[in-house]
Amino acid sequence: MTETIDMAADQALKARHRAMWALGDYPGVAADVIPELGPTLVAASGVRAGDRVLDVAAGTGNAAVPAALTGAHVVASDLTPELFEAGRAFAARHGAEVDWQEGDAEALPYADGTFDVVLSCVGVMFAPHHQRAADELVRVTRPGGTIGLISWTPHGFVGDMFRTMKPYAPPAPPGAQPPPLWGDEDHVRALLGDRVTDVVTRRQTVTVDGFATPEAWMRYWKTVYGPTIAVYRHIGGDPDQVAALDRDLTDLATRFDRGTGTTVMDWEYLVLTARTRG
Ligand SMILES: C[S@@+](CC[C@H](N)C(=O)[O-])C[C@H]1O[C@@H](n2cnc3c(N)ncnc32)[C@H](O)[C@@H]1O
Repeated sequence: MTETIDMAADQALKARHRAMWALGDYPGVAADVIPELGPTLVAASGVRAGDRVLDVAAGTGNAAVPAALTGAHVVASDLTPELFEAGRAFAARHGAEVDWQEGDAEALPYADGTFDVVLSCVGVMFAPHHQRAADELVRVTRPGGTIGLISWTPHGFVGDMFRTMKPYAPPAPPGAQPPPLWGDEDHVRALLGDRVTDVVTRRQTVTVDGFATPEAWMRYWKTVYGPTIAVYRHIGGDPDQVAALDRDLTDLATRFDRGTGTTVMDWEYLVLTARTRG
C-alpha cells in the first residue's frame, strides 16, 4: 500500500525539527561528548579512498570528516544547515574536503545508486518516519554498496533519556516513531528487509566522563542539546515541572554513573553495517 504524505504537515514538522537541532550547541556536543563515534562508524563501514560516500544527518561532520580523510569523496547532508559553518571549520582544521548539502533523510535529493557507502551516525534515527528514511538509504546506495549506521539503543543511556523526557514533552506528531528504535537490531533488519545482505551488528559504548557530577551533566545538557532544550521550553511556564525534570535527568545520570570522584557514564549504541543486493 502506498503511504500518503501530507506535504504541508511534513514540511512544518521538518521545519520544527530543523529549528530544534539549531538550538543550543550541537557542535560542542559532537566535539566534546561523542567525537569517537564518527571514526568508529567509518572504520566499521570500510570506507576507502575513492569511494563516493554520503553522510546522512551529518550534523557537523562527525563521520563525514574522518570519511573524507581516507581519500573518499564525501557529501555531508543534513536537515539543519545552521550546523554547516561549524562543520566547515571542523573539516578545515583536519584538512578534509567535504561537500555540505541541505537535505531531508526522508527525501534525499540524489539519484538511485549514487553512493558506494551511505553512513549515518546517530543521525537518520531522528527522522520521524523510519520506513521512509530506510527506503532512501537503500535507494541512494549502489547495488553491492554499504550502509553503515550508529544508533543509540532503546535501553542505553540516550534511550532512557528520551523515556525520561517523554512525560514532559508535547505529544509526538502522528506517524512519528521513537528515535532509539533504530538501536534495536530487529527493527532495522525489518526496515531494510531483503534489499540487503551481510548484516553485521555489535553493541558497544562510548564513555562520557567530562562532568564533575550527574547534576553538572544535567545543567550542561539542558543548555546544549536541542531535543532537551525543546522539552524545557515546552514546560517553561511551570517551575514545578522544570524542577521535576531537572531531578529526573539528574537521577538518570546518577543511575548510570560508575565514577568515583567524578561522573563516568557508558552510553550504549548499535553499530550496524549491511550490503545492498548486487
Ligand atoms: C544527534 S545529531 C547527529 C549529527 C552527526 N551525525 C553526529 O554524529 O554528530 C542528529 C542530526 O540529525 C539531523 N536530522 C534530524 N532530522 C533529520 C532529517 N529528517 N533529515 C536529515 N537530517 C536530520 C539533525 O539536524 C542533526 O544534525
